[in-house]
Amino acid sequence: MQIAARLQAPFASKPLCVISAPGHRREGQTCIFNMPPKQTMACTKECFWRQCTLPTMAGMTSTSSSAKFDLSRSIEYATQSRIALAGYDACHELAACLLSAHLGHDAKSVLVAGAGGTGQEILCAAKLEPAWTFVAADPAVAMLDQAMTGIEAAGLSGRTTVFHGTVEELPDGDGFDAATLVGVLHHIPEQDRKDALLRELGRRLKPGGPLILACNRCPYESQPLFLEAWAARWRMAGADEAEVVAKLGKIRQGAVPPLSEAAVETMLANAGFVNPLRFFSSLFWSAWITFKAQ
Ligand SMILES: C[S@@+](CC[C@H](N)C(=O)[O-])C[C@H]1O[C@@H](n2cnc3c(N)ncnc32)[C@H](O)[C@@H]1O
Repeated sequence: MQIAARLQAPFASKPLCVISAPGHRREGQTCIFNMPPKQTMACTKECFWRQCTLPTMAGMTSTSSSAKFDLSRSIEYATQSRIALAGYDACHELAACLLSAHLGHDAKSVLVAGAGGTGQEILCAAKLEPAWTFVAADPAVAMLDQAMTGIEAAGLSGRTTVFHGTVEELPDGDGFDAATLVGVLHHIPEQDRKDALLRELGRRLKPGGPLILACNRCPYESQPLFLEAWAARWRMAGADEAEVVAKLGKIRQGAVPPLSEAAVETMLANAGFVNPLRFFSSLFWSAWITFKAQ
């Protein structure tokens, strides 16, 4: 199904992003792909078409994320993320179990920030909690489409509202019962944008609402042994030496993890979250459940 067709109220009035249906590739045509107004680029693979009239917030364009998480990255994402992050599925399963344990089984709304790629947050939580609904927010249309393909295949599109845009662009609403931010924070280089994203997430949560935060949590160069082990994991998955270098280069490109776990917890506190509890760790990666202050 096309992303535009998946947009549901209250987001249907946003500028629509239309992804061409399979078999309708518009190779070579000029298209506007989530770029600031008047900027265009030639579409070389799949045609992503957006009537982009959104004002771009300072340093907060969707464009950088869309460029980084492009079509080729979205296609390989499900496989690559499971190699890059040992325990990818376990982390998602535990996140869903923690939310379920905290929120119970009544109808709840969950904001899934950075939902693109596998849609694993939704696949896990929806299976456990049939009464929950989800908003899948992501500015990278290729990633979002990839995730929605899996969500549709699991019969969950009726419980999932697609929002093509950043958390910061999400319209104000009644407040979500819970939110997730998995694998996003270390892809945002600037500290002030990391802080702003956490603040904006908090603004959209009900008081006391849980947030699952997972990200790489220390500079890569600070742990040479972890870097070596990371490379070894790619070898274990069949990569040759050139591929290992390429894979690690691509994963690290533009990624700036927080300085430490303590720095993550300080960031959470500054954004109005309390009682962070780490529940998962794997090489550079950690995951926490935390709560918006009452
Ligand atoms: C590594 S990927 C997907 C991670 C996914 N949650 C998972 O668990 O596999 C990170 C995604 O975050 C999205 N993203 C980056 N900045 C964002 C923001 N401000 N709001 C929402 N999504 C964002 C990117 O477009 C990208 O698709």
